[in-house]
Amino acid sequence: MYCFAVSSPLDWNQLREAARAASCRSYAPYSKVHVGAAALTSDGEIVVGSNIENASYGLTLCAECSLVSDLIRLGQRRLRALSVVAGDGQYLAPCGRCRQVLFEFGGTDLLIDQGDDQPVRTLGELLPGAFGPSDLETRSDL
Ligand code: THU
Repeated sequence: MYCFAVSSPLDWNQLREAARAASCRSYAPYSKVHVGAAALTSDGEIVVGSNIENASYGLTLCAECSLVSDLIRLGQRRLRALSVVAGDGQYLAPCGRCRQVLFEFGGTDLLIDQGDDQPVRTLGELLPGAFGPSDLETRSDL
């Protein structure tokens, strides 16, 4: 079972633990970097993802992409808070591509766990000036 309701206020330890558990299910035979991601949705559920590598290295899927797939599978669209960890349970920085993927479903307000040593940051801080859905509406020639 990897989808369950959580109560507010935000329980970062619960998210981190869900991310750590997801890292145990990662498929990373090449890099051996086992990544797990867990996020709280706007409906109060937890979605998770694990990285999935491929013999054709460039086709690797990051844990955050896998998490977004879980979000859509649940029929949800909005992420509120995210924790990403490696196999050691410690914070792992979302890569640039994943920041953009997450922006679609979390926007600038998505809270991102930075581990014990740093304060929580927003996706707006990690990806300033992002290109998003509203740019398509305002910039399209159609
Ligand atoms: N990885 C993620 O899953 N998320 C990130 O944001 C950074 C990198 C994975 C991809 C690959 O399987 C491994 O970490 C090493 O790059």
